Amino acid sequence: MKRVITLTFIVFFFPILTFAAEVEVLHFWTATGEARALTEIKQAVQSKGHSWLDFAVAGGGGENARAVLTQRVVTGSAPTAAQMKGTEIRVWAEKGVLANLDKLALAENWDALLPPSISSQMKYDGHYVAVPVNVHRLNWLWVNLDVLKASGVQKVPTTLDELFLALNKIKKAGYIALAHGSQPWQDTILFESMVLSVGGPEFYRRVFVDLDESALTSATMQRAFALFRQLKSYTDNESSGRDWDLTTALVIRGKAGMQIMGDWAKGEFIAANMQAGKQYACVPSPGTQGSFSYTVDAFAMFKVKSPEQIKAQEAFASSLLDPVVQQKFNQIKGSIPVRNDISSAGFDSCGQASMADFSEAGKNYAQVPSVATHMAMPLDKLTNVYELISEFWNDSQLSPLKASQLLAEAVK
Ligand code: BGC
Repeated sequence: MKRVITLTFIVFFFPILTFAAEVEVLHFWTATGEARALTEIKQAVQSKGHSWLDFAVAGGGGENARAVLTQRVVTGSAPTAAQMKGTEIRVWAEKGVLANLDKLALAENWDALLPPSISSQMKYDGHYVAVPVNVHRLNWLWVNLDVLKASGVQKVPTTLDELFLALNKIKKAGYIALAHGSQPWQDTILFESMVLSVGGPEFYRRVFVDLDESALTSATMQRAFALFRQLKSYTDNESSGRDWDLTTALVIRGKAGMQIMGDWAKGEFIAANMQAGKQYACVPSPGTQGSFSYTVDAFAMFKVKSPEQIKAQEAFASSLLDPVVQQKFNQIKGSIPVRNDISSAGFDSCGQASMADFSEAGKNYAQVPSVATHMAMPLDKLTNVYELISEFWNDSQLSPLKASQLLAEAVK
């Protein structure tokens, strides 16, 4: 009897066991909405017979995860895959440590499924080395509708004038008007929204992509700095160093009126059982209608050795672009599918607006890469930008004119 069972086990399960392996994934999705969304990917990998080794490094925006990854690669123990952004993929690819995914990409037709601007970022030297999972929008304003009402604000603000009117009323009513977590990457999110608002997408690209000195020191840029400073008076005293999800929680709990943040914030509203259009609203960050500042979450695949590990890595890569995962993951995460063939049905009003706006902005040359989330410039320059933006936020003596000149210096 025992032999029969053993034999049955070998015959039926041996093929699976042969190719099953562990997938170790380094990521920074530790907030409630982020972790819930990641579960969809994890389950897809496990359903293919592989095991998941979670390597989570807390810290919004991924600064900590980046440092840990460097350590792991330098010591020769890279994970199977690591979450990263466009400009970083290149850096790791140049070091020759990333795997070639061309075979899988060809079999699954990734070139046809992904927007060319995104697939090109997943390639190095013409070869796929990373896989994207979503598109997040940065220029959003998240609003607690009860707080708005209680403060006597009639309308969700869509222009800068309306924004400041609303902020004044919310502050007067005793709430935190603007929820902000002052960390360099979050300060830069607020700042990039102001640049997009006063300058529009073309100006934004001149500043953050072309690093055009005359645009960087222009009057428009100084106006963006001045507005950014003005926003500070609507934030609370506990803002310094606060994580983004704890900041979003202030809006969720009705302590604060609004937050300017990428749509991973929506993942927190969803996790708190709130509904878009009912308890909260999402609108493009005031003055940025028609523009779409984006960031793409991707996983770079590190070289692995055994055929089992390669199979497992491919299963993970394939799961990221699986149509069902694309739907479920993005509905929970707050982002939109990166595949161009996923229906918007099943997404809430914010998700549907985001999908429509992304495609419309694509036609109008109004999609811009988010500078704060590593999509626009190399890390060494970005580090200088972070430092300068936060210095300006914290030092009221630094003038917008001087700051714009220092910014131009910082990206040289
Ligand atoms: C990532 C999001 C993440 C957010 C907060 C962004 O850079 O694109 O996926 O939720 O940081 O950690």
